[in-house]
Amino acid sequence: MEVIIQQNKEAAAALVARIIAHDLRANPHLVLGLATGATMERVYRQLVALHREQHLDFSLCSTFNLDEYVGLFPSDPNSYRHYMDHHLFRNVNIDARNTHLPNGMADDLDVECRRYEAMIQRFGGIDVQLVGIGKAGHIGFNEPLSALRSRTRVKALTPTTIKQNAPLFRGEDNVPRRAITMGVGTIIEARRCLLLATGDSKAAMVAKAVEGPITSMVTASALQLHPRCTVVVDEEAAAQLTEKDYYRWIFANEPEWQDYR
Ligand code: F6R
Repeated sequence: MEVIIQQNKEAAAALVARIIAHDLRANPHLVLGLATGATMERVYRQLVALHREQHLDFSLCSTFNLDEYVGLFPSDPNSYRHYMDHHLFRNVNIDARNTHLPNGMADDLDVECRRYEAMIQRFGGIDVQLVGIGKAGHIGFNEPLSALRSRTRVKALTPTTIKQNAPLFRGEDNVPRRAITMGVGTIIEARRCLLLATGDSKAAMVAKAVEGPITSMVTASALQLHPRCTVVVDEEAAAQLTEKDYYRWIFANEPEWQDYR
C-alpha cells in the first residue's frame, strides 16, 4: 500500500484523475471500477475536464460501479445510475452500453448479484478500482462484519451509513435500508485499487484502514492485502496517520511518482 498526501481536496482528486487518465491512455480498453459519493464528484469533474481539454478518450473503456441502492429506479435522482450519468457518463464520450451498475430493482436480487459478478468476469476483471471510504469504514457498502472474501450481494446499511447519506434523501427515514454491493473479495481482485479520502471526518477511519489491523469491522483495511493499492488523502484526512513523513518521502523520491509530483 502507498499513501499519497496532497494539500487539499482538489489536489487529491486531481491526482486520482491523473492516475486514471494515465492508465486509460496506456490501455484504451481499460475496465474501470467506479464509486459514487461526495468525494468522487471532484474526480469526475477533473476527468470531464481532461476529456474536454486534453481529449481523454473513454470510447473503448468499460465501467462497473461498486454499488446501487435496492428499490430505486435508475431515473431516481438518488440512484447511483443517475449520479454516474450526471457526473461522468453524459459528459464524456463513453458508450452507455459499456457502463454497468447493479440493478437494484431486479425481481430476484440474488440472481442479479450473480449476474453482475459473472459480467465482471466476462470483461476480464477490473483493471483499476476507485473506492471511497465511509464513516463506518466501508468500501462499497461492505459494512462492518462483511466477510473479507465476500462477493457481490445485498447488504443492509448500518445506522452510521444511513446518517452519512441522509442529507441527499432529506432525512434518514427516506434512505433505502439495503444496497447491492460488490464484495470485499470482488474489490480486492481488481488489478489496481485507488482509495480516495478527503476531509477531517474521514481521518479516524483512514488511520484505521491504513495503519490498523486488518479487520472486517473496517472493511477498507482489507486493501492492505492488495498488492497494488494507492491511498490518496488530503492533509485533513491524513491527520491521524502516524507515518506521514515516510509516506511523503516515498512520494517525493520514488521514480514511479515522478510524473505526478
Ligand atoms: C459509493 C460507495 C461508498 C462511498 C463512501 C464515501 O459508491 O461505494 O463506499 O465511497 O461511503 O462516501 P462520501 O464520498 O459521500 O463520503
